[in-house]
Amino acid sequence: MGIGWTTHNGLWHRPPQQDFQSLSIPRVSREPLYLAMAQSFAGQVAIITGGAQGIGYGIAEYLGARGAAICIVDMDGAKNDAAVASLGAKGVSASHAVCDVSNAEHWKAALAQFLGAHGHIEILVQAAGVTGRTGINTEEVDPDNFDFVLRVNARGIFLGCKTVLPVMKAAGYGRILNIASVAGKDGNAGMVAYSASKGAVIAMTKAIGKEYAETGVTCNALAPAVVRTAMVDAMPEQQVKYMTGALRAPRGGAPRCRKNRRCFTHAQLPADKIPMKRCGTISEIAALTAFAVSKECSFTTGFTFDATGGRCVGVFHGPASLCSARRHAKPPIPNLAPPPPHTHTRSATY
Ligand SMILES: NC(=O)c1ccc[n+]([C@@H]2O[C@H](COP(=O)([O-])OP(=O)(O)OC[C@H]3O[C@@H](n4cnc5c(N)ncnc54)[C@H](O)[C@@H]3O)[C@@H](O)[C@H]2O)c1
Repeated sequence: MGIGWTTHNGLWHRPPQQDFQSLSIPRVSREPLYLAMAQSFAGQVAIITGGAQGIGYGIAEYLGARGAAICIVDMDGAKNDAAVASLGAKGVSASHAVCDVSNAEHWKAALAQFLGAHGHIEILVQAAGVTGRTGINTEEVDPDNFDFVLRVNARGIFLGCKTVLPVMKAAGYGRILNIASVAGKDGNAGMVAYSASKGAVIAMTKAIGKEYAETGVTCNALAPAVVRTAMVDAMPEQQVKYMTGALRAPRGGAPRCRKNRRCFTHAQLPADKIPMKRCGTISEIAALTAFAVSKECSFTTGFTFDATGGRCVGVFHGPASLCSARRHAKPPIPNLAPPPPHTHTRSATY
């Protein structure tokens, strides 16, 4: 327990704010760190697949704002032009190649174009992806649709890595980040092809991470939970509700805490998918990506970063110490601030 914590009637109380201010914690100016981060991609070239919109575009904007020259790889020339113009208007140096990531010849042409323009490539972020048809069980899935999803999401990532790895290996430096999904770890019902393809991305990333571990090239993945983009908007509503956890027990009300019948927060709701009770944002994914492809992220490879609002930390029950019912209240864990006060109402979900 931190300095100044007191108990009263079995509950722990935070010390008044001035107690914290009086603690002699050395203060470090944030400005030099901020400026260093703002310039951390200066001189680097980043290829970003799926960069014409959504998460890929957000990552392009984030890295570009920090000095990287952005090379967008996406399918539609008009959309690519619009993305490049929009980045340019924000002062980002950007170009694009029209490329189907599942096509090896397209990749060769894109690489030649970018190397011709810049002469080097430090970063590859692979965000191009498709869901295929969703909201249906495996027996209803068209094998052609399954192949299509695997082709773009798995073969596309493989080809992207295969294309840039020789360049990065020769330079003795490279950062690859493959956008997977929590579906690749957990498996999303109604999305068998997508889940399989993202599982493949995670496994591929592990294999590549090991293969190139001694070359100065790292290869990691990032597994987001739901981020509201055009991809999610195009899914059937029931599928989105399933992924976010908006579904509640349909009959008889939501299950309740076994210790306190009035408490819903501690109950294990069957569809309580995101403990933070919200979707992720593009800028949160972009910020994590920026770290994963930075020079500073130098001792991590083959790893899948989590961006799931806690979904992947295990089954969420809610810590019992949140319950304000006196006989269930536990003292907070020593040296950690207690959670905010708990009310017995559920917050709005997506
Ligand atoms: N949005 C989410 O909730 C979420 C969650 C987890 C993972 N992801 C993953 O993040 C990535 C980006 O998703 P998003 O939500 O921004 O989707 P999005 O549909 O908004 O963007 C995907 C982009 O990929 C491009 N693309 C699709 N097929 C392509 C191909 N064959 N070749 C080249 N480009 C192609 C599209 O043109 C589009 O610009 C995807 O890999 C997706 O699976 C998204």
